[in-house]
Amino acid sequence: MNTNTNNKFQNAKVLVVGATGGIGSAFVEKIKQLDKDNIIIEVVRKKKYNHQIEVDMLDEESMTQCALEIHKQHGTIDMILNTVGLLHSDGAMPERAYKEINQDFLQKTFEANTFIPFLVSKHFIPLLSKNKTSLIAFMSARIGSISDNNLGGWYSYRASKSALNMLIKTLSIELSYKNKNAICIGLHPGTVKTNLSDPFSEKIKAYKVFSKEESIDYLVNQINRVDQTFSGKLIDWKGDVIPY
Ligand SMILES: NC(=O)c1ccc[n+]([C@@H]2O[C@H](COP(=O)([O-])OP(=O)(O)OC[C@H]3O[C@@H](n4cnc5c(N)ncnc54)[C@H](OP(=O)(O)O)[C@@H]3O)[C@@H](O)[C@H]2O)c1
Repeated sequence: MNTNTNNKFQNAKVLVVGATGGIGSAFVEKIKQLDKDNIIIEVVRKKKYNHQIEVDMLDEESMTQCALEIHKQHGTIDMILNTVGLLHSDGAMPERAYKEINQDFLQKTFEANTFIPFLVSKHFIPLLSKNKTSLIAFMSARIGSISDNNLGGWYSYRASKSALNMLIKTLSIELSYKNKNAICIGLHPGTVKTNLSDPFSEKIKAYKVFSKEESIDYLVNQINRVDQTFSGKLIDWKGDVIPY
């Protein structure tokens, strides 16, 4: 990766976890456009294209094998973008009231928004280069901010993203002495038109809704802007730090 923090997408090896998702696939397309020499490694739960690596992200053995395969093929990498996440599943929608809390939905939400980022960290952070600037970014959400919660509802999504934010902060502390060149951040992409936001398209009309491409342009700018002083923080698409 170019050591100039203003251009992290030049000749870079980037691992995109969840590359079949709306934001994940848009990242892949953008990184290709930014430099044809970028190497993009796409980790997915179900392959859409042959070059993608299919992994059970909740299975430690599957993650171990995946990390070994990536290391064998690419050596160290420069960036990890975790774009996995879940807001609704098989018709189950986020809770509007505590009486709607359902253990199965809670489990699935925490698996995607929290457990997978934990396992991505454990298995893929060791692949990050130690000799130059590297970065791990997790798609979090403003809604995971405890201090910003004025509306209530969406219990599992909110709590699973708050737990993700704690992971990001804790990782940043460990990385500050184990890999001083690594930056660890959470990103809030804005409200983006994807499968995740689709059931709420009527409700979110009142808000600014980005296309995937618009959101990725903003996120690429933020990734290029940040240095180690931003590690452990949650940053939104326009560059504001969101208090936890
Ligand atoms: N869209 C928004 O407005 C918005 C706002 C704030 C934050 N975010 C965050 O941005 C991230 C990406 O969201 P998106 O809008 O791109 O949603 P999306 O299109 O639904 O993509 C979600 C991705 O997560 C993967 N995934 C979900 N559960 C998984 C599991 N158990 N195991 C492995 N992969 C799993 C999906 O895999 P498949 O492709 O196989 O289904 C897909 O790649 C999420 O973390 C979300 O919380 C989005």
